[in-house]
Amino acid sequence: MTPPTPPTNACDTTMTTDAPAALSPTIFERTRPGARGVRIPQDNHAISQDWLNSIPAQMRRTDAPQLPEVAQLDIVRHYLNLSQLNHAIDKAFYPLGSCTMKYNPKVCDLASAHPNLAPLHPRTPDALAQGSLQIIHELQQFLRDITGFDAVTLQPAAGAQGEFVGMMMIKAYLQDKGELPHRNQILVPDAAHGTNPATAAMCGFEVVEIPSGLDGCVDMAALKANLSDKTAGIMLTNPNTLGLFETDILEISRLVHEAGGLLYYDGANLNAIMGHARPADMGFDVMHINTHKTFATPHGGGGPGCGPVCVTETLKPYLPSPNVEKTDSGYRLADVGEKSIGRVKAFNGNMDMVVRAWMYLLAYGAVGTKQISTDAVLNANYLRTQLRDTYEIAFTGVCKHEFVMNSHNQHAADSRINTLTLAKRLMDYGIHPMTMYFPLIAPEAMMIEPTETENKDTLDNFIAAMKAIDAECRNNPDIVVTAPHTMPIKKVDEVGAARKPELNFYCCR
Ligand SMILES: Cc1ncc(COP(=O)(O)O)c(C=O)c1O
Repeated sequence: MTPPTPPTNACDTTMTTDAPAALSPTIFERTRPGARGVRIPQDNHAISQDWLNSIPAQMRRTDAPQLPEVAQLDIVRHYLNLSQLNHAIDKAFYPLGSCTMKYNPKVCDLASAHPNLAPLHPRTPDALAQGSLQIIHELQQFLRDITGFDAVTLQPAAGAQGEFVGMMMIKAYLQDKGELPHRNQILVPDAAHGTNPATAAMCGFEVVEIPSGLDGCVDMAALKANLSDKTAGIMLTNPNTLGLFETDILEISRLVHEAGGLLYYDGANLNAIMGHARPADMGFDVMHINTHKTFATPHGGGGPGCGPVCVTETLKPYLPSPNVEKTDSGYRLADVGEKSIGRVKAFNGNMDMVVRAWMYLLAYGAVGTKQISTDAVLNANYLRTQLRDTYEIAFTGVCKHEFVMNSHNQHAADSRINTLTLAKRLMDYGIHPMTMYFPLIAPEAMMIEPTETENKDTLDNFIAAMKAIDAECRNNPDIVVTAPHTMPIKKVDEVGAARKPELNFYCCR
């Protein structure tokens, strides 16, 4: 295959490659006094002086706000141009491992914006919100089928909040059994996502790091050495963040349970095993699901997403309250009971995410859901085997939905080259960089997750781009070291950006 040629200017914007974005006009700099995007009829909506006077004087502003004054067409062009500077999954390949950016079918957006659903007021009485409650109930049932657990809450707004909810339930359970504060250690493998130890610590547990073995999986000897009557549980991602399935999972679950602890499943990688294996069958007691990774919802970035939590019968009494219940006369929001850890999110969580995930699962059905995981794993292994002669694979062997390679071979060709330089050069080929430097246990990590939604042409294009960059490292390393060349912003001062961030237009000028 002919290696793709990087475009001379990948960005179809008003900015040239010579004009750093910092010099391009902001919306404030586009201000033309008197220009207006819309004109509001003044007379019909005159605000009475009496009403204005009713606002306490100290709370009334004395100067007009410094809002940009821009004509409508200029606003439209400004934001359209800005939006085109962003890389998006709808624009091109986005092989971020762990964070998973995959195509979300537009039908899911349509469903969540449906006029019979979207305008529903969250305080609508149950009797008038039967459709929404049914959707929540059905999605919970789908998730129970997929994971093997007994009960589900859809309240958490992100995977990270799901972790917090799950760990709070483990804590409440141990408290009930009279095992706290003694049983206060949570084991977390060193390959874990940073949210795992952070969550355990936020819930008041002591975090005990378990090293990975040479095969990238949990080091069983280290696990055994750290189990004790202080073990409250383990937080495990399976497949782990290297994309490797923990083959000792049944033994791990037996050992942790025998020690008196519970197993928390970080479900970020559920998209690798759906329809093939169920976390509850592996012995887990509680898990969260990142709907943005496995089902079609935008990534909440810890915020307005959805991180359902699934539990066994043992932890069911501790679920957040209320939860949807099906009765003979329909659906209702029922109090979970006195053991509940309480409400963790307003109303029923982010309903627009719930509808998207429900729509996605309805569209795929049981057979399609299994195929999603099969294809995600096939695509990852295709990339891995096509690239393994060019890039060093961090932990060899068949992977699940993602894999980790590194830049050691390219660094050997030119010592100025590392994972960051390769990622910057990839942008010149119109491809979003892969996840870099995670997991921490793989030096110079490049974590790649193609997802099931990409076709072979896209994967082949990525392979050709990575091979072309490798050739550049040997034949023309300067072009790699000085990349990106086609982006509106060239190499940024990353340390300066982190240490001295300029977040406000006015404060910087
Ligand atoms: C393995 C793993 N666990 C947990 C999280 C946290 O999930 P969220 O970003 O939805 O809060 C992530 C991030 O996407 C992750 O990759």
